[in-house]
Amino acid sequence: MTDDGFPPLDQLTPRKAKLEHKALAAEIAAADLAYFQEDRPILEDAVYDARKRRLLALEEAFPALRSAASVQVGARPAARFAKIRHRVPMLSLGNAFADEDVGDFVQRVRSFLGRKAQDEIVFTAEPKIDGLSLSLRYENGQLVSAATRGDGEEGEDVTQNARTVAEIPQALSGEDVPEVIEVRGEIYLGHRDFAEINTRQREKGLAEFANPRNAAAGSLRQLDASITASRPLRFFAYAWGEMPVPPAATQFGVVEAFRRWGFRTNTLMVRCADLAEMLAHYRLIESQRASLGYDIDGVVYKVDELALQLRLGFVARAPRWAIAHKFPAELATTVLEKIEIQVGRTGALSPVARLRPVTVGGVVVTNATLHNEDYIRGFDSKGERIRSGEPPDIREGDTVTVKRAGDVIPRVEAVDLARRPADAKPYLFPTACPACGSHATRELNPRTGKEDAVRRCTGGLICPAQAVERLKHFVSRDALDIDGLGDRQIEFFHTDPELPVKEPADIFTLARRDAANLKKLKDKDGFGAQSVAKLFAAIDDRRAPPLNRFIFGLGIRHIGETNARLLARHYGSFAQLRQAVMAAEQPGSPERQELDAIDGVGPTVVEALLEFFAEAHNQEMLDRLLAEVTPQPLEAVASTSPVAGKIVVFTGALEQMTRDEAKAMAERLGAKVAGSVSSKTDLLVAGPGAGSKLKDAARHGVEVIDEAGWFTLVGGQAAG
Ligand code: IVH
Repeated sequence: MTDDGFPPLDQLTPRKAKLEHKALAAEIAAADLAYFQEDRPILEDAVYDARKRRLLALEEAFPALRSAASVQVGARPAARFAKIRHRVPMLSLGNAFADEDVGDFVQRVRSFLGRKAQDEIVFTAEPKIDGLSLSLRYENGQLVSAATRGDGEEGEDVTQNARTVAEIPQALSGEDVPEVIEVRGEIYLGHRDFAEINTRQREKGLAEFANPRNAAAGSLRQLDASITASRPLRFFAYAWGEMPVPPAATQFGVVEAFRRWGFRTNTLMVRCADLAEMLAHYRLIESQRASLGYDIDGVVYKVDELALQLRLGFVARAPRWAIAHKFPAELATTVLEKIEIQVGRTGALSPVARLRPVTVGGVVVTNATLHNEDYIRGFDSKGERIRSGEPPDIREGDTVTVKRAGDVIPRVEAVDLARRPADAKPYLFPTACPACGSHATRELNPRTGKEDAVRRCTGGLICPAQAVERLKHFVSRDALDIDGLGDRQIEFFHTDPELPVKEPADIFTLARRDAANLKKLKDKDGFGAQSVAKLFAAIDDRRAPPLNRFIFGLGIRHIGETNARLLARHYGSFAQLRQAVMAAEQPGSPERQELDAIDGVGPTVVEALLEFFAEAHNQEMLDRLLAEVTPQPLEAVASTSPVAGKIVVFTGALEQMTRDEAKAMAERLGAKVAGSVSSKTDLLVAGPGAGSKLKDAARHGVEVIDEAGWFTLVGGQAAG
């Protein structure tokens, strides 16, 4: 016998080996199924690992046993996907809804590039596929990794799954295949395949998918790649990440190269010489939408010339050189059965309409947002009508029109007054929080003097709904992303008498507290030794979160992902941010000036930051949390450039580049661009006609250069 209790390999005949291999493979497959599909482990980890080792040893000794199926089984995937950091971030797109928005986009591109009206700029136009984006890395023509978009900076490693997709080439073919290329595109499911998958789900008694997009996501993000293999996923290539040697000088040309190398590309992609051609192609694609056989939700326009794309660069998380022109939203009519109030993490009371289920654009909708109190009343606080047309209020029992646009939460659009029940009463919006009973008020906005549209619970952290929502936010996917700690678990721990979690720090002391407790978590309903060990490991895994996710996770009002990233980039460490914001409370202090000058951070955000750090209980909460976790600074951007980390201000007329372009270039080189000169400013780039900023610079002793000096300074880096 071996250590694991199996007969020695050299005593096995091929026939015996085959029988044993078959039995092991079946056992492991059953264990995988129970573990991954039903969350119900049937083998101890150690036993499972021993079985797997034996299976691999058998295959080593008898290579004939290796089959596609056993390779799948042998590679029990990690309990979660590994992460892959995108070398080039995966961006999203800005949206256009009306033709005018597209006109504005073309105009923005022109003026950014300093082009006159008669200069031609070519755009491509192509369908916007409603699937999931995927980044495929090829080295020497071979597929080496596949990653989902994730948060744009870091995605999930789905390489094994991508290898099972027939439309993703394992190897690229052609003369001009580069050494390294990351091809990006959309994974999606066709309508017919989607219907078939749902039929199968139904037959197996499993939940059906709401739409092809969800089904595609569910099929790709399978820990068991054999499930992915059984779903006919498709792939269109339309973009790229790292591409040291572009195969063409245009968007269209690169996509043509993709096609030569073995990818499927969309045949509805065309080049357009002007706005009229772009809109005409939009109408054409819209007219074919229903017969394409797959879901699209709009048309994407991109500047064709890559050199221009490079100059245009990015703003926040979307390229300046592309935009998505969305198709109009879809509508349906149903009965609003009940209005319920949800309390969010900032105490906002949000009214939700519970609807008689109705299909809107292929998705069954049961809830829709009613936005706020005024929206239900039909008038804002000044008595202005909110909806165009009939301005009636919305009541329980009303027949309403529901609108769903893409990923956006469905909303109640209009009321059919003719069908209002005789006994329907105006809805009384609560003035007490339904979760804690505290007074709920509408604040006055100090800047506008207007009443805030949102009614908020004044209970702060004594309100269980707010506390729970903040915790859910803290562990959520885009924040700390703690695996196995979802909404359900947070709700459980929040009220658990043995292991209460009332604030973020409590999450990180769970394991220690459990060790000291008599009644163990593993003995509670719904937990087990394995799942508790996994949970504690997942928590430990997040003790060094990226700084931007940590800041975002704190749930400070108005600090979304973009602002969190800006602050993380600017301050570098949490200690620095905290110290700076506290010092910034002093109006006129250098720290305040610095905070005010961060590009992209407006006064509302500054106010919210000051407020958050001024609260003693937040400071105490942070001290406890920082005793448990150590946020990691973002990797320095373009740290080799001569202006990396510098604060730069542009003023006066620039001749070789537009102001926007200058700003984008500086940011690309890792500099921070500010709008005004303070003692923190490192460099003022002044063109002709510069005024007061020159004086400010002299006062603060800031270095001043002209546009030519800027180009000398950044030298060859400008293009990158
Ligand atoms: S281009 C840097 N082209 O839309 C530009 N995106 O809303 C990268 N999408 O995350 C995107 N069809 O998943 C591009 N033809 C198309 C697309 C497309 C679908 C998706 C993509 C992206 C999202 C942005």
